[in-house]
Amino acid sequence: MKLIIVANRLPFSVKENLTFVKSPGGLVSGLETFLKRSDFKKYTWIGWAGSHLNKKQFEIVKEKAKRKKCYPVFIPVKQLDKFYNGFCNKILWPLFHGFSSYVVYDESYWETYVAVNKLFCDEVAKHVTKNSVVWIHDYHLMLLPSMLRNLFPEIMIGFFLHIPFPPPELFMQLPWKKELLEGLLGCDLIGFHIYEYTTNFLRTLSRTLGIDHKMGEILYEDRLVKVETFPLGIDFDLFHNAYERKKIKNLVKKIKDQLKNKKVIFSVDRLDYTKGIYNRLLAFEKVLLRRPDLHEKVVLIMVVVPSREGVEQYQRMKKQLEEKISEINGKFGQIYWTPVLYYYRSLNFEELVAHYLATDAILVTPLKDGMNLIAKEFVASRKDKKGVIILSEFAGSAREMGEAIIVNPNSVNDMAEAIETALELPEEEQSERIYLMQERLKRYNIVKWGQDFFSVLDYLKIKKLKLSTKLLNQSLIDQIKSSFHKSSHRILFLDYDGTLVPIVSKPHLAKPDKNLKDLLKSLSEFPNTDVVIISGRKKEDLTKWFEGIKINFICEHGIFIKKYNKDWESLVNINPDFKKSIRNIMELYVDRLPQSFIEEKEFSIVFHYRNADPELASLRVAELIDELLILTGNLQVNLILGNKVIEIRPAGIDKGVTANIFLKEKPYDFILAAGDDTTDEDLFRSLPETAITVKVGIKKSFAKYSARSYIEVRKLLESLVKNE
Ligand code: UDP
Ligand code: G6P
Repeated sequence: MKLIIVANRLPFSVKENLTFVKSPGGLVSGLETFLKRSDFKKYTWIGWAGSHLNKKQFEIVKEKAKRKKCYPVFIPVKQLDKFYNGFCNKILWPLFHGFSSYVVYDESYWETYVAVNKLFCDEVAKHVTKNSVVWIHDYHLMLLPSMLRNLFPEIMIGFFLHIPFPPPELFMQLPWKKELLEGLLGCDLIGFHIYEYTTNFLRTLSRTLGIDHKMGEILYEDRLVKVETFPLGIDFDLFHNAYERKKIKNLVKKIKDQLKNKKVIFSVDRLDYTKGIYNRLLAFEKVLLRRPDLHEKVVLIMVVVPSREGVEQYQRMKKQLEEKISEINGKFGQIYWTPVLYYYRSLNFEELVAHYLATDAILVTPLKDGMNLIAKEFVASRKDKKGVIILSEFAGSAREMGEAIIVNPNSVNDMAEAIETALELPEEEQSERIYLMQERLKRYNIVKWGQDFFSVLDYLKIKKLKLSTKLLNQSLIDQIKSSFHKSSHRILFLDYDGTLVPIVSKPHLAKPDKNLKDLLKSLSEFPNTDVVIISGRKKEDLTKWFEGIKINFICEHGIFIKKYNKDWESLVNINPDFKKSIRNIMELYVDRLPQSFIEEKEFSIVFHYRNADPELASLRVAELIDELLILTGNLQVNLILGNKVIEIRPAGIDKGVTANIFLKEKPYDFILAAGDDTTDEDLFRSLPETAITVKVGIKKSFAKYSARSYIEVRKLLESLVKNE
């Protein structure tokens, strides 16, 4: 396997003098360590070089980057601003973090986002080979999966989102919601940090595109797409063992000596409004206000890493933070005590770990954060089992770190209390809490995260292969045609809706077109060939639509049978009054589920909910099924769950039972059945082993083969009667 990683950023960013520095953020930290620790040799990393370069500089960087298995994408300066500062960081970032009032809707940002995703696609396409696995990262590249899928239908494509996926109400505010979702659905596997984001995504798919899932698996077009949760971990051992390193020990000592015996509170983040840095200062100020006994005994070291300086919100925030810091220092500081020590720069690994180790309490209090690695790194570093972490309930990492002091970062009071508690927490309790978190972080580390992702991709690859061997292809069609022509008595059982015509919103709109009528006519006039339309529909629909064609009918899922030129016969002997009480209940649910409706047939009654809001439908339908099961418990009827329908019909009769009446009449040596719904499974199951059975749609089935849609079924039928 050849792994191609694609992310907006390469692991390094290029400075003005064309030197390389480590790129900021959790994505790069995570991926870089995963590649290192898991011993991946055959990989390529494609991304932006982190600053604007002219063509000449770009060529130099490209050559240098190759040695690191990295391939920069050239983004022209005009596009860079609208793509990175614009669509990515003024639309997707704020919206996905719940800051919808910060979003700047600008059509030209969208156009540039599409264009830049295309630039990435062009670069990736140069590297793809038959056995490539492409792993795309983060919100900058949500259109890339489907762009690549169009070029390379067979390769495996994974996507991981490093930020939260918002609830549907928020995501649906985007004017380009459908395009973004369809972009992602080009993948085989889509991963999120925590279950909440996974369900938000699945709910959004259902509400925006009407796509349902089963255990996170989606059938999209003719492919299987899986949605799963993979919490990003860290290189636990690296942080844990750093405690022993001499250089780090010296740095810790330096910090401690400098701060004498003061308690140290630490805070380190990229400068970002999602990180809740300002509220943290308010909480610290509150503590100083109400606890004069802590004056001169505590300091807050606040490291703020420059980030996205081209976005106005970030510039404003820097100013606001710096004003607040000088206000606190001005109000409480002494010549020998500065309450807030502020640094506007990033720390290298040694400095960062030394700060983690010199700290009594760390404040990790984002207003919203996809995961937050700082929290995990702090805990892993504390080999001495000392120190307290105050963690926001809105950081993804809080799901794995329940032993932290969990706070609501919107409550300054809550955080102030947490700081006081942390500073007084007995060492024994500190070590108990840290130990439990460490055990968890050790197990689900960065390597496990990546391995889990790849093992699900492998499983999907096998599943994809199985599906493709079952899928009708030209050579299978040729084989079927050959046995059709060789046989002496042929019968074809064809379901109607979804099998010969597409599913439409209202059943009466699914009239057959001229091509279909011609096709069925040719088939039925072929010597020794019987065609049976086998449907759940009412008798009247089908006979009216196919007048003059020599076909047989089975209606209401097997209750009625009509052989060509003969009258309808009913195969049940039940009083249809049972429908009345069922109708009363169904009517209640029609009122409670807008856009649902009831269809009444002679012996059965159906609740349709194809057009209803899928989320509300899933609730209401579950309730309705409960009620119907109770009501029908002692009636001779069956409850059938079909494709967005619930049908109650007499027990003991189904499509399979009635189809077999035909089979008893002639020695058929060619039997073909095609259908798309649950009720067709009865038919597939009941036919002899030699029958050719075709399921429409890629679902679990008793059928031998599957077809992607009604179009492929028609193609098969056409080839049977075509003279070639
Ligand atoms: N980091 C760093 N130096 C700093 C601050 C942060 O190397 O001065 C690293 C830190 O070790 C962590 C990453 O940057 O791995 C930040 O990831 P996180 O998930 O906490 O936040 P993000 O910046 O991705 O939103
Ligand atoms: C977050 C995002 C990353 C991004 C990082 C730094 O972690 O998920 O995709 O790289 O922040 O932000 P930047 O805009 O500097 O790349």
